[in-house]
Amino acid sequence: MASKNFDVVVIGGGPGGYIAAIRAAQLGFNTACIDEWKNDKGGPAPGGTCTNVGCIPSKALLQSSEHFEHAGHSFADHGIDLKDLSIDVKKMLSRKDTVVKQNNDGILYLFKKNNVSFFHGRGAFAKAVSEGYEVTVGDETLVGKNVIVATGSSARALPGTPFDEETIVSNDGALRIGAVPKKLGLIGAGVIGLEMGSVWRRLGAEVTVLEGLPTFLGAVDEQIAKEAHKAFVKQGLKIELGVKVGAIKSGKKGVSVAYTTAKGEEQTLEVDKLIVSIGRVPNTTGLNAEAVGLKLDERGAIVVDDNCRTNLPGVWAVGDVVRGPMLAHKAEEEGVAVAERIAGQHGHVNFNTIPWVIYTSPEIAWVGQTEQQLKAAGRAFKAGSFPFMANGRARAMGDTTGLVKMLADAATDEILGVHIVGPMASELIAEAVVAMEFRASAEDIARICHAHPSLSEATKEAALAVDKRTLNF
Ligand code: FAD
Ligand code: NAI
Repeated sequence: MASKNFDVVVIGGGPGGYIAAIRAAQLGFNTACIDEWKNDKGGPAPGGTCTNVGCIPSKALLQSSEHFEHAGHSFADHGIDLKDLSIDVKKMLSRKDTVVKQNNDGILYLFKKNNVSFFHGRGAFAKAVSEGYEVTVGDETLVGKNVIVATGSSARALPGTPFDEETIVSNDGALRIGAVPKKLGLIGAGVIGLEMGSVWRRLGAEVTVLEGLPTFLGAVDEQIAKEAHKAFVKQGLKIELGVKVGAIKSGKKGVSVAYTTAKGEEQTLEVDKLIVSIGRVPNTTGLNAEAVGLKLDERGAIVVDDNCRTNLPGVWAVGDVVRGPMLAHKAEEEGVAVAERIAGQHGHVNFNTIPWVIYTSPEIAWVGQTEQQLKAAGRAFKAGSFPFMANGRARAMGDTTGLVKMLADAATDEILGVHIVGPMASELIAEAVVAMEFRASAEDIARICHAHPSLSEATKEAALAVDKRTLNF
């Protein structure tokens, strides 16, 4: 069969790949995107982990379970009386599936709108040719002058304990649990552990999270992590830190997890379902990287430079399959930057201003450096914080947990980091990202008029606190 020639062939249609394809097409390149994800009918489901088993479905379930929690616990404070509250898990999951499908269809529509040729199947390198690289998908052969690899990542299993996606589940099975388990265990108190643990706890499961490290959310600013830990424990999430997980046995009645506590005691956790959320591994098997000599590191990640260039001319890689944080927006930014670099432009990704959000309640969000990182680097800084307890909007909402904390350079007042635990932290962090991107000072934020009453006033007050002059605390 004759090969089809493209300026840009993108392998992987997650947020890194599909956004790279759209940007490349916008820049005038004849672009193809290959993605193998299948929906339950075997049809294409572009959007990758993020759309199918990650960001989107997890946020749908977080939203449903938060409504349920509010209805059961905080509506009464507002004078709203509800009797016989119940959760229809089947309906909740079906709503989540609809949201996912809307996103899959949206991406297929965007491909059409932007003239991106979509191929459903596994893309694999065949060989380097004079016009670029041959990539096979099914029985078709595409030739890309440039190839962008955006094959993403998959859940890491515990050695010797494969996922059966029924009882021992990854993020995939965790989003499809068909009834509220009485007892749910999670291994790993990272982002997925806390988000998925929150969903099922809110719906009534007794949730225990076993974490290997002795510190809770080690990458998060200590003060923020402490505040979040306090809130999660108060909600009823059992979090055991510093454990060593041993033998895991799965049977008809559920799963038993043997572990050693931080104090050295031998314990067994008996649960109906176990979610293993101990990080993710890059997807490079099946790509046939060796056929063209594409360099991988010892973890199987594609080796790239700061600009996402691989060791091969014209081959680029973005997103979870390369170094850096495994975040959808990081993958997207890299995808756009690579398409622009192929066009000879100066694609730009500022790794210092990539925000992180954990969508628990309270939400946790941050950008820039933590207090601990600044201390370790010997950088002189000033810190200011403001509690939501003193914010009028938070009081009116009845959601006063947490604070905004701002760190600024001691001499220049430039903002070095902003850390939030509290309501709508995911939205509030955007102001901090913009400020840091423009290298604003804390005083800049302090002098900007913020709407009243709004949660964003807590950010302004944290900026004022850097100069020790809060107005409302
Ligand atoms: P992926 O999204 O993994 O997409 C890669 C695509 O390539 C997939 O469709 C895959 O099937 C396809 N593919 C792989 N190999 C081939 C091949 N050889 N040929 C053809 N196709 C191939 N990040 C956030 O920023 N915010 C969140 O709220 C968030 N929530 C998450 C929740 C969960 C439960 C999980 C698991 C992750 C979450 N993430 C979140 C992380 C986010 O999903 C990833 O960082 C993001 O999806 C990475 O995008 P990507 O394009 O690099 O890869
Ligand atoms: P993670 O890296 O966030 O957390 C994994 C946790 O498991 C860590 O705390 C680690 O110490 C612990 N761990 C590792 N091995 C262990 C073991 N053997 N026993 C006990 N604990 C162990 O990884 P997670 O939660 O799997 O998520 C993967 C990635 O997906 C995240 O790092 C993030 O990049 C992305 N993600 C992002 C989200 C967001 O942006 N809101 C939501 C969910 C995932």
